[in-house]
Amino acid sequence: MYRQDINILKRDYMNLPEEIYFFDTTLRDGEQTPGVALTVDEKIQIAQKLDDLGVDKIEAGFPASSRGEFKAVKKIKSLDLDATTVGLARCVKSDIDSALDTDIDYIHIFIGTSPLHRDYKLKMSKETVISTAVEAVEYAKDHGLCVEFSAEDATRTEAEFLFSFYDELVDAGIDFINVPDTVGILTPVMTRELMSYMKYKYNTPISVHFHNDFGLATANTLTAIECGACQAHVTVNGMGERTGNSSLEEIVVALHAAYQIDLNIDTSQLYSLSDFVGRLTGVKMPVNKPIVGDNAFAHESGIHVHGILKNSATYEPISPELVGHSRKIILGKHTGANALKSKLEEYHIDLNDNQFDKVFSQIKELGDKGKCVTDDDLKAIALTELSSARETPIKLKGLGLLCGNIVSPTATVKLEIDGVEKETSETGVGPIDASLNAIRHLIKDTMHIELEEYNLEAINGGTDALADVFVISSDKEGNKSTGRAIDDDVVMASILAVLDSINKLLLIKRSSEELSIKLKQSQEI
Ligand code: KIV
Ligand code: ZN
Repeated sequence: MYRQDINILKRDYMNLPEEIYFFDTTLRDGEQTPGVALTVDEKIQIAQKLDDLGVDKIEAGFPASSRGEFKAVKKIKSLDLDATTVGLARCVKSDIDSALDTDIDYIHIFIGTSPLHRDYKLKMSKETVISTAVEAVEYAKDHGLCVEFSAEDATRTEAEFLFSFYDELVDAGIDFINVPDTVGILTPVMTRELMSYMKYKYNTPISVHFHNDFGLATANTLTAIECGACQAHVTVNGMGERTGNSSLEEIVVALHAAYQIDLNIDTSQLYSLSDFVGRLTGVKMPVNKPIVGDNAFAHESGIHVHGILKNSATYEPISPELVGHSRKIILGKHTGANALKSKLEEYHIDLNDNQFDKVFSQIKELGDKGKCVTDDDLKAIALTELSSARETPIKLKGLGLLCGNIVSPTATVKLEIDGVEKETSETGVGPIDASLNAIRHLIKDTMHIELEEYNLEAINGGTDALADVFVISSDKEGNKSTGRAIDDDVVMASILAVLDSINKLLLIKRSSEELSIKLKQSQEI
């Protein structure tokens, strides 16, 4: 569906690697997201999910940095995952020893190479930076480790020095050259220049580790791959220092859809993994985050929804199923009739034309007031509209009152409930209270109600004024409904208002029960 001739042509100009490896650093660089700290157990859970997804390497932590980090790396290594467990180390013997103690076979060593890092952080000359790095590599190699080496802040390092640095490390036997864009300053054009040259110069596999400070991490990583880099450092949800790292889900889906590259990644797990990591870390994704954001497959405007309902590819580059996400049709002021029809069909709510028009205009009105109509709102609006056309199940058939100061106020109420007449007498603090008690008693097998609000107004004054009663009742499920009645008798107006709201609650309850039966039946089919 995605494929366009132009994409196929463009591949001829690329130097794509034969295989692409995913080096996931959610548990190391991703955990450096401000405010995020994962427990050993949480790291294990994430590592297992990354392994199920199919990433090649999992950077599980920085073993020398704390007991917890050490434990996490050791534990993850002991799980015998398909993915290679990686630990980070500085060019310090004790860091490499800690990594060795975790039993890992693959180490990621780094040292700052830019003038800023050399002069301010390390206070080392260029020569010392090189000799320190070479010594570390030799030590790690002598202990049987596979070594991936990062020139930290590579992209702000003098080109000539950067290449002589990597030359020495290649000679020392590193297995992977990693190029970090530590503060995310690259652009795709700069990336192309750097990567094309490095690919031409080195036979050692090249990996990239790009940060997202200018929002270009994904574009730069893809450009690096186009130029022959065979490994991408990524994190779930693009988590990481400041604005984060290249996002696993964006790179995977772009390579799959835009480049049509076969990857050993189960893309259908991307959404659930993103959601899981978001919940564990407390870092929620913005709604417009590509691939995994809430709005990635959400449609509101009438024109788009119309297209989507005919053929989802009209306004979606990939299907939500590809990444385990789901499509959402949002109702609001841009909604068209087609969207509303499809939503109602989805919920098996059949409205006639008149009811449909009323629901449609209520949604538009809410949209104009700046509100988005949730699925629950829509169900409530549509069910109320459906209910208003039905015959009321409870009717008042008779009322008798006994008042005065020598007896407790007593009300005798006769109701017809679903065609069956019932009568009872109850007392109360006054005639209205007594009548309500009688109603509650008569309907107790049908529903339980509470009177939330009671409002009485006299229309046009005087002793023969009309009583205008407005009430709000609620049922056990928390549904609420209003009721209103006008009568020249205040007790009668009150009872009729309460019965009005009870009837509405009952109709809504019945409509939604019918609805869930229909939904269940459609799911069984
Ligand atoms: O961004 C960076 O430079 C790093 C290094 C440790 C590779 O994360
Ligand atoms: Zn980094």
